[in-house]
Amino acid sequence: MASLLLSLPVSVLIARTVNAGALVPRVTLPTGWTSKGCYSDFVNPRTLGQLSQANPTMTVEQCINFCATAGYSYAGVEYADECYCDSLIRSPGAPVASTDCNMPCAGDSTETCGAGNRINIYWNGASDPADSSQLTVGYDIFQSLGCYTDPGPRTLPTQLNIGPVTLETCGLACLAQGFSYFGTEYSQECWCGHSIGGSGAPAPAGDCSMLCNGDHTEWCGGPNRLNLYQFVGQQLNATDPCRFEQGKPFDAYIRPKNVPNTDGTNFHQLVSYTNGPQTYYIISACVDGCNVNGQNFYVRNRQLYVNGTDLNGNPFYAESLPLVMGETPMMVSSAPGNPPLYNGYCFSVQSEVQGFGFGLSWTWLEVQNSKEFWYTCPNNTADGRPDIVYAAYKNHPHYTFSECTPIYVQADYSGSF
Ligand SMILES: *[C@@H]1O[C@H](CO)[C@@H](O)[C@H](O)[C@H]1NC(C)=O
Ligand SMILES: *[C@@H]1O[C@H](CO)[C@@H](O)[C@H](O)[C@H]1NC(C)=O
Ligand SMILES: *[C@@H]1O[C@H](CO)[C@@H](O)[C@H](O)[C@H]1NC(C)=O
Repeated sequence: MASLLLSLPVSVLIARTVNAGALVPRVTLPTGWTSKGCYSDFVNPRTLGQLSQANPTMTVEQCINFCATAGYSYAGVEYADECYCDSLIRSPGAPVASTDCNMPCAGDSTETCGAGNRINIYWNGASDPADSSQLTVGYDIFQSLGCYTDPGPRTLPTQLNIGPVTLETCGLACLAQGFSYFGTEYSQECWCGHSIGGSGAPAPAGDCSMLCNGDHTEWCGGPNRLNLYQFVGQQLNATDPCRFEQGKPFDAYIRPKNVPNTDGTNFHQLVSYTNGPQTYYIISACVDGCNVNGQNFYVRNRQLYVNGTDLNGNPFYAESLPLVMGETPMMVSSAPGNPPLYNGYCFSVQSEVQGFGFGLSWTWLEVQNSKEFWYTCPNNTADGRPDIVYAAYKNHPHYTFSECTPIYVQADYSGSF
């Protein structure tokens, strides 16, 4: 018996093993692909349900090649000649005994190709599409609002024709048109809006289980279902070198980015409101004739402070609160039980000298190692007052983004470096 076995060709030995319902069919898998085993399958929903083909030459390799070429990370063979593709294994499909998958492949009887309602699944190791809470495209950040119904009238009214849809292409296309909401629907649709309208309402995440036609690793809604996102701001560019000047007072000026090498207008504090023992201030640009006497700013331990005389002539001292994207920096008077302060400020290592001899020298106020995210925006809830805004964005209720001026905040040490 032993000598007889040894004399058999190797391929016959393996084929026998397969026909006996072996765990591992004789398949040479493409690099990175592994077997996930035998699964149950149903007609609706399919365990792998995005794309399929059937043909009399079906093999495991042919099916993997078909699915991989179409950008899917799972491939499965079933009922001898069928091939199914997807980016995830969908329930109620579940693992079953490997012996359930016992039909030879139509195109190579030494391989196993599932059975009736049984599918042999292979996977390239890529992660399943995720419901991440934020989407970052370049410098733009979108918050996921989850799956929404879109029963009509439309939840987001404007549809853009952008070719193959991905979250990134749809998000940027809507943003470029000034919309801060976008949603992907039915795999191939990109919708934009200024707010959530129609009768759209949150829906179970499982309702949005169609993959984007432009990227099979992302969710793009479902029938009458949107994967909804809102633009929330720009991410910090933490690449600029940063330095600290512990506690040195400076005069702060606003310098439009497109007017280099000029002095700007002043930057100052406005009393906003009081709350108990604390007074809150917002930072604004000076309009003609404003009084900034003695308003000295300084940065210590990465916190921004101001010490001076307020608009009523009273001395004050205030400290920075956490910066919020799209909002005006707020400062609070020093008082017991201070809220948490913000320690993201520093100065650019670059500096500039203007004028002759002693001249004037300045550097730039940075946040999280970038000087790039300051704007002045006319505040339409305050008679157009040019408030300073950190990382301004479109469709803010208090300003119109196109009226904002990108600026640098110049810190003037009057020749001290
Ligand atoms: C504020 O400025 C005044 C006058 O320069 C100085 O005496 C005082 O110590 C400063 N206060 C703080 C908290 O830095
Ligand atoms: C605009 O003005 C309102 C009212 O003074 C203020 O609360 C707000 O912080 C200002 N700036 C922005 C960007 O909203
Ligand atoms: C961020 O920094 C990079 C590299 O210095 C620069 O090319 C880019 O323009 C910056 N982006 C913004 C939004 O400032």
